[in-house]
Amino acid sequence: MTRLTDKVAIVTGAAMGIGWATAQLFAENGATVIAADVVKPPLSESDHPIDYRELDVTDQHAWKAVVDGVLNEHGRLDVLVNNAGVIDYADITTVTPEDWSRVVGVDQTGVFLGMRTALAPMRAQHAGSIINLSSAWGVVGSEGVAAYQASKGAVRGLTRNGAITYAADGVRVNTVVPGWIATPLTERQPADKNAEVIGLTPLGFGADPRDIAFGCLYLASDEARYVTGSELVIDGGLLAQ
Ligand SMILES: NC(=O)c1ccc[n+]([C@@H]2O[C@H](COP(=O)([O-])OP(=O)(O)OC[C@H]3O[C@@H](n4cnc5c(N)ncnc54)[C@H](O)[C@@H]3O)[C@@H](O)[C@H]2O)c1
Repeated sequence: MTRLTDKVAIVTGAAMGIGWATAQLFAENGATVIAADVVKPPLSESDHPIDYRELDVTDQHAWKAVVDGVLNEHGRLDVLVNNAGVIDYADITTVTPEDWSRVVGVDQTGVFLGMRTALAPMRAQHAGSIINLSSAWGVVGSEGVAAYQASKGAVRGLTRNGAITYAADGVRVNTVVPGWIATPLTERQPADKNAEVIGLTPLGFGADPRDIAFGCLYLASDEARYVTGSELVIDGGLLAQ
């Protein structure tokens, strides 16, 4: 498969779950893939080469080092998938300021820092695709989960802002909105939350990480050259109700 031939892509939070599935699918499709995470991915499990760079998405200096390294080695950056995410289930009255800052730091500020760093080379080469992971919980309310819902809603706004601001520079920015996906995140999630979301899903089952990776693949590819500022909902019908 060659849908991403000659493209250089960074995928954050790529050690497991949706990020790892996306990194593998991009590599299968001919991309040069840099998996960026605080944890090392199981690189030997991939049939196609994937590079690893240590990156904490909340660290702007680390972002610069990773993007500079990619530009030095590969000469360009075509795709950034801002996938790294953490969750906290506390409501507004019980979430600690520390947990609020930690979740907003990764899920919202991490996306901002990634966009900020990747936009410079993408604007210079007049081409690029940025894909930001939001969530169905960035669209509709669920009890608790305050910091996560606030961050995932903000990601949708930041996507539209970037899409409009940098369209003339040839950079596309889109959001992917997953429903319930089987990953380490949902493995750790309280059982009642998992049952609630899958129970509400019209198709009646939770998805695999690769179901989200296919959406990212489309948005990363030139097949989506006319797609910017959009939200690709992959949720088994959850939000259509
Ligand atoms: N799984 C779902 O049902 C679901 C639903 C909606 C949205 N999402 C979103 O999809 C994305 C991926 O979710 P997942 O389920 O694969 O999560 P996961 O917990 O399985 O994997 C998240 C990855 O992010 C990495 N990460 C965490 N903090 C980081 C940091 N500061 N810097 C760099 N990497 C960091 C982790 O090491 C891990 O590899 C997240 O943004 C999540 O909010 C997931």
